[in-house]
Amino acid sequence: MANPSLLILAGDGIGPEVMNEVKRIIDWFGAKRDLAFDVSEDLVGGAAYDKHGVPLHDDTMAKAQSVDAVLLGAVGGPKYDDLDFSVKPERGLLRLRKEMDLFANLRPAQCFDALADFSSLKKDIVAGLDIMIVRELTSGVYFGEPRGIHMEDNMRVGINTQRYTEAEIERGARAAFELAMKRGKKLCSMEKANVMESGILWRDVVTEVHRDYPEVELSHMYADNGAMQLVRAPKQFDVIYTDNLFGDILSDCAAMLTGSLGMLPSASLGLPMANGRPKAMYEPVHGSAPDITGQGKANPIACILSFAMALRYSFDQGAEADRLEAAIEKVLADGARTADLMGPEGGTPLSTTQMGDVILSALDESL
Ligand code: IPM
Ligand code: MG
Repeated sequence: MANPSLLILAGDGIGPEVMNEVKRIIDWFGAKRDLAFDVSEDLVGGAAYDKHGVPLHDDTMAKAQSVDAVLLGAVGGPKYDDLDFSVKPERGLLRLRKEMDLFANLRPAQCFDALADFSSLKKDIVAGLDIMIVRELTSGVYFGEPRGIHMEDNMRVGINTQRYTEAEIERGARAAFELAMKRGKKLCSMEKANVMESGILWRDVVTEVHRDYPEVELSHMYADNGAMQLVRAPKQFDVIYTDNLFGDILSDCAAMLTGSLGMLPSASLGLPMANGRPKAMYEPVHGSAPDITGQGKANPIACILSFAMALRYSFDQGAEADRLEAAIEKVLADGARTADLMGPEGGTPLSTTQMGDVILSALDESL
């Protein structure tokens, strides 16, 4: 059988630096675990704009549709701030999500024991934290029409539309309930049903889907209260299901609970393809970090953990995903730290490549 295929879109800023370490990890699985991938690479975001004048070339889009999974680094940077909205680097990412129909965005927020001190919250509030945010990713205010800026009575008016069909709410809810069944069997749905009709519909539809998952304990929360509860007592949550915009915000909030944005992976999943695998793209939650680009300082762990999610969700290699996650846990417990993980006690941080080195050693030791 042919090897499964991966398309790497490293993108901008620290994307290529962290992706280099992922490529070494991919090679390790090929060499040591008989798990080889056919890897191809292409451009996205500002890097694609520089070459093609668009943040995602049609050929790249077609490739993304044809592979078993896409690994994405990061897009954007100050160089592209003044570009027309339609060709901004972020549009490349949004096009991938939309055209691949990646409606379920899984954003785990897990606090590694070794890093509990790095959270801005007290250690006992975050130690052992393990929550999963499922963010609806292909609809809502990110894509709703009408949108734009136009003139009304000599004044500019900006418009975006929050729009959800029940089918869109339902398919994301099913993904969230399925995950809850495999985890702690608790699901909290977040919207603003107190002020938004789309929130009322959201609550109704999630409640209907719940009938098919009676073992899951379902609760509903207004998203603003959810933000507050996330910093007050995050361990009350298991799986959270929310819309595209609230999910964007709440997942950044949850990410910071764990101590560093440099640690968090994500998976964006769509419908099953002919081979049974879901359409999928994996990317770190952190952005392109222009302030540290090119300095070898970036933490590659979020991007490496995104590959672990690919092993788990696209390739049915849960045990190998566990192996990779355990290797990362081990190096952190042993004190390996990139610059973003340095405490007040100081010390010499590892470079991006050195962090890759110690993770590879830990993988070797796992054999
Ligand atoms: C994210 C990012 C993106 C989003 C940007 C880069 C378009 O913030 O993935 O959370 O808003 O969805
Ligand atoms: Mg975001």
